[in-house]
Amino acid sequence: MPIEICPSGRELGAEILNIDLREELDTETLDVIRQAWREYLVLLIRGQDISDGDLVRFSEYFGELRTSPLGEARMKGRSRSPDGFPQVAIISNVTKDGLPIGSLGNGEAIWHTDMSYLESPIMAAVLYALEVPPSGGDTGFANMYLAHDTLPEELRAELVDRVCIHDHSLNSAGFLRRGYEEVTDVTQTPGARHPLFRTHPETGRQALFLGRRRNAYISGLPVEESEALLDAVWAHATKPEFTWHHKWNVGDLLMWDNRAVLHRRDSFDNSTRRVMHRTQIEGDKPFYQAA
Ligand code: SIN
Repeated sequence: MPIEICPSGRELGAEILNIDLREELDTETLDVIRQAWREYLVLLIRGQDISDGDLVRFSEYFGELRTSPLGEARMKGRSRSPDGFPQVAIISNVTKDGLPIGSLGNGEAIWHTDMSYLESPIMAAVLYALEVPPSGGDTGFANMYLAHDTLPEELRAELVDRVCIHDHSLNSAGFLRRGYEEVTDVTQTPGARHPLFRTHPETGRQALFLGRRRNAYISGLPVEESEALLDAVWAHATKPEFTWHHKWNVGDLLMWDNRAVLHRRDSFDNSTRRVMHRTQIEGDKPFYQAA
């Protein structure tokens, strides 16, 4: 059966049916996937039973992979990649011999863009579920094209051509990364500076480009003004009508366009297990080109 694209019915997200990621994909199939990805921003493929090698091969169809720079202060140097796959990051609350096997624990991961604290954030991430809790741990996405296109005019005028600092010190679960200190003055937040509006290099569409709310700062503004604008733009960008949440089953795989969506993860009971393997696809330095 040919592959089929089934939209989520929300403002982003689609499921791909009739695909087996243990097999190599032909050019025609990949073209359909790329087209759907550009249109729906997040793709879901259910019912897979794949190895890390399969995950890497599928991810590499879309670009070069980046080794994960996971660095929570409490991880004490233990590898959080499966043996032989440094390009695969483990996202998990499970511990082994008293140490976490992965990152992010069981708490909520707040709305964020992956690695936007770097000059060149990743273009995309692919997340595959090996073990999931009976409840909680859902992953949500918000459409940043739509958030951009529906911005109130006065807010747009305040934000256009502005640059924001994307905090490197805290990860999305709120853990302080190794080598960083708590930020007490947001004007000194460590991390890359990016335009608040971002032109998508493939579609040419404009998107809001937000990293994490915590410790963000709009360069050049008094702190109170920056805080007020950031509160307003974050409240707008994460409106429920822009979002789609996925409840995981073992064997599900999600792939998202990190240039055009925010994502988050619900907390879950720490007495249950959640084990996910994630790849990160290389990206470019964000830019804004007014239409
Ligand atoms: C992530 O933020 O990349 C992980 C999301 C998840 O664990 O569902």
